[in-house]
Amino acid sequence: MNVKEAVIKRQSIRAFKPDPVPKDILEEITEAALRAPSAGNSQPCEYVIVSGAKLDEVKAATLAAATETPKLDIPISTNYPEPWRSRYTGLMRGVQEKLGISREDKQKRADWNIWGMKLWGAPSCIYVVIDKNFYNASEIPNSLNIFDCGLATQTIMLLAVGHGLGSIPAILPVIYPDVLRKVLGLPDNKLFVVGIPIGYPDWDHPANKFRSAREPLENVAKFYR
Ligand SMILES: Cc1cc2nc3c(=O)[nH]c(=O)nc-3n(C[C@H](O)[C@H](O)[C@H](O)COP(=O)(O)O)c2cc1C
Repeated sequence: MNVKEAVIKRQSIRAFKPDPVPKDILEEITEAALRAPSAGNSQPCEYVIVSGAKLDEVKAATLAAATETPKLDIPISTNYPEPWRSRYTGLMRGVQEKLGISREDKQKRADWNIWGMKLWGAPSCIYVVIDKNFYNASEIPNSLNIFDCGLATQTIMLLAVGHGLGSIPAILPVIYPDVLRKVLGLPDNKLFVVGIPIGYPDWDHPANKFRSAREPLENVAKFYR
């Protein structure tokens, strides 16, 4: 598979088969992704790869915390003005339409949220972590290095496609970072940036039949000569 094919084929997977991902494949993908670029070659991303019984423990502990208010290590804003807001609502509507969840159906929406907390059934999750001593080394956070984590995340996801795997870059798996640190025995200076649930896609699941939209090229790119 060439790079363009992998880029086009990748999509966020929101239903996985339970089949485990072999450890050597997870290692191969993570090791190859170390070639992702980073500002000043600082290589700020660390990877916490969780599978099997340990991941079941993480999922259970996350669900148990679900009544608490989420507290992300890397704060995010959900204030999306137009035109960005419509893209976001279009995504939510698109996924829910495929799932047959109406706006009013609170129970189905809650069930879908719980499914997300269970990492959409993924048998493994690659958490991307950054050290607080680096991220908060000065008054303003080293936000450029979160960009580095994004580059690494996409590299992992493209490599996953090459192995017939699916993945999703997601905030949902890291909304209770204290729970993650506790279950995984990690110190407080390890900040969770994003989780990448990974596994073999369940292509029969309606959620995976959804393909997100993109703006046409002319709306977002200008070419100069
Ligand atoms: C940083 C980041 C966080 C995301 N968090 C979530 C999430 O918590 N839940 C979710 O369903 N999708 C999440 N996504 C997936 C996006 O919704 C998805 O990438 C976008 O709709 C484009 O669709 P595609 O990945 O299928 O191309 C996240 C994506 C990124 C890049």
